[in-house]
Amino acid sequence: MKILGIETSCDETAIAILDIEENEDGMSVKILANEILSQIELHRPYGGVFPNLAKREHEKNLEPILHKAMIAAGFLEATERDGASPSDSPAGEYAYSKKAAAIGAIAVTQGPGLEPCLWTGITFAKKLAEKWNVPLIPANHMEGHIVAALLKKGRGENEFVFAAPEYPSLALLISGGHTEIVLMREFGKYEIVGKTRDDAVGECFDKSARLLGLPYPGGPEISKLAAEARKENLKLDIELPRPMLDADNLDFSFSGLKTAVLYATKDRKLSPDDIKKFAREIEEAITDVLIGKMEKAIEKYSAESLVAGGGVIANTFIRSALQKLADSYDIPLYLPHTSHATDNALMIALAAYFKRKNIHEKDFGAEGNLRIG
Ligand code: KG4
Ligand code: ZN
Repeated sequence: MKILGIETSCDETAIAILDIEENEDGMSVKILANEILSQIELHRPYGGVFPNLAKREHEKNLEPILHKAMIAAGFLEATERDGASPSDSPAGEYAYSKKAAAIGAIAVTQGPGLEPCLWTGITFAKKLAEKWNVPLIPANHMEGHIVAALLKKGRGENEFVFAAPEYPSLALLISGGHTEIVLMREFGKYEIVGKTRDDAVGECFDKSARLLGLPYPGGPEISKLAAEARKENLKLDIELPRPMLDADNLDFSFSGLKTAVLYATKDRKLSPDDIKKFAREIEEAITDVLIGKMEKAIEKYSAESLVAGGGVIANTFIRSALQKLADSYDIPLYLPHTSHATDNALMIALAAYFKRKNIHEKDFGAEGNLRIG
């Protein structure tokens, strides 16, 4: 089955086309197209994602990205327009009538995310589904991050194999808007067993980075400087807090860490080495908390496998700390291919594929606070 996914929940406009095949050997996922347009440069001056700007960019970019994806998948020649000029009615002019016949369903992110952005993707997807006369499947963005982690590299260049994890499985979802530990006792059944009470991990990285005078998004910046600090043996002379690490639950709180960075850096002129030292301490404090909570969760639920997803999982220090944790319990850890860690549409198409048989409601809208489980 060929399925086209659309993702517009935050500041990436993405469209992917997957060819999914199931047989006795399992489930193979061929990535026919995986187009992502990041708006990071546009939002950088604002120090974060500016929702109305993001919405406008999604509106502008969805149609050209669809065009690119159709070419990448081989459904359209690069010179072919299949329709008139780009119009302000998405999917109106670009009918791709004959070529699109191969696509069996369209998937779109319903939530969670920024509502104006989600609506842009949903409106576009609805028109396209109507035009092509194919089912439209809503997908949960966070579930997308989980299933993306379960794709293993296959034989061919764009070929992957999907395999369900060993149960019970614990997923750590860490992104700019989310910090959750999700328990899965069986495929497709989710229960949030721990979450942040204030800032998300990515938000903590971004806000702390800003206090250090680093550009948005701060996660990759901190990660780069922290690695340099470790290499150069630079260490901060104070210890930042590890919030809620010792609390007897699986919840997180990161706003206190950011506040500690605020006070520790106030009235202090930071040298480049000081910034590296702070970056290292921030990354290590965050990692200690994540690992400590995951360890508690593994003990509590006797987990047989770990899954991790979300933009922050691009962080190599956190990835290797999670790997060490999994190894110490002798259980597998499923991580997304680094290029599938940040927001993309292939994870949306994949999450929707599993839901295709349980779509009872024909109409749906954006749900900014959509939960998993
Ligand atoms: O999942 P994502 O792409 O978008 C959301 O749904 O939020 O995650 C974006 C977040 C940002 O906060 C960014 O700073 C963080 O992921 N991030 C990182 C790294 N790469 C991206 N945080 C720490 N280390 C990284 N290498
Ligand atoms: Zn995300």
